[in-house]
Amino acid sequence: MVIPVILAGGSGTRLWPLSRELHPKQLIGLINEYTMLQNTVLRLSGFEAMGRPIVICNENHRFMVAEQLRSIGIDPLAIMLEPVGRNTAPALAAAAFKALEVDENPTLLVLPADHTITHTEKLHDAMREGRDLAEAGRLITFGIVPESAETGYGYIRKGASVNGGSAVVIDRFVEKPDLETAESYVASGEYCWNSGMFMFGCREVLGELERFAPEIVATCREAVEKGASDLDFFRLDNEAFSACPEDSIDYAVMEKTDKGVMISLAAGWNDVGSWDAIWQIGNKDENGNVVKGDVVTHDVSSSLLQGESRMIAAVGIEDMIIVETKDAVLVAPRNRGQDVKKIVSQLKADT
Ligand code: GDD
Ligand code: MG
Repeated sequence: MVIPVILAGGSGTRLWPLSRELHPKQLIGLINEYTMLQNTVLRLSGFEAMGRPIVICNENHRFMVAEQLRSIGIDPLAIMLEPVGRNTAPALAAAAFKALEVDENPTLLVLPADHTITHTEKLHDAMREGRDLAEAGRLITFGIVPESAETGYGYIRKGASVNGGSAVVIDRFVEKPDLETAESYVASGEYCWNSGMFMFGCREVLGELERFAPEIVATCREAVEKGASDLDFFRLDNEAFSACPEDSIDYAVMEKTDKGVMISLAAGWNDVGSWDAIWQIGNKDENGNVVKGDVVTHDVSSSLLQGESRMIAAVGIEDMIIVETKDAVLVAPRNRGQDVKKIVSQLKADT
């Protein structure tokens, strides 16, 4: 059985001011009438023998998550609530212990709740290949042909073919290299981006976590054992989970394991990490602008202009981001989109 584990606990700070602590990007609609979380779940429909999803998120978002699943007719296996964020390795370990309650060794399909994928059928093909290899004990990640020397991604060096298909051994996995290193990786043609989606057997991933980060396994096991059902939710035990070390699955396992396999994915993947990414995937008018809301322009090109409550008027600009919400306006060059999170840190420090 394949159990989807949807990671929905991030904060999405680079999409400020639309993405906020109480409304992070995975819970808002950025590209169509559904939220990112809903799109993530809907993308799985039609895949054979798919179990009900486990969604794991911060307890502050529990009602939004429950309502968003209900409104698209999804009855999750569990909505697991984290009292605090400890990054993706603990979230995944906790979900793995929960999944073991319903099956001897289910295959987990780990999906971030905030990606867009254009060609669902290609994702399903890759998932089929991934499922077979996961059942054979491998830890699968889906790799993307890199388009630029993005430093916010993991990089995977392709090794030998595994099965004569598109799967290759992960020769090397480097999470978030510096710019110079990322540039050399992209130039070499030997690396792919890590998409952040994974597939592995529950017991295999817990085994590797036990090897490399035993404290995460111990605290998460306890957090699930001592956790409690509360209405539609499963609350992880506060004390145990809070004591868990913080780490991502990429650093904790994927950089270290020798069981890693990468399957190439060319499905129009985007992690929608910044306003620039929203511009990239958005529908552009004849001047290359992506426009939403009440917007008037003259001589404006290759820009994203998005308003919520007031008119935006712009003259003579190029490659800019302007996002207006009721209480804040963001203005930045499109290529500085990654730095928006610095504003959020600054605002947090000021309050
Ligand atoms: N439940 C839970 N708890 N979810 C979390 C937590 C947490 O503490 N932290 C992050 N998430 C969720 C986010 O909402 C997102 O959906 C996913 O886990 C990945 O976390 P990010 O924080 O967005 O990771 P990243 O973008 O820095 O890096 C990962 O994704 C890249 C591709 O987008 C890595 O896997 C990279 O290697 C990869 O290239
Ligand atoms: Mg991300």
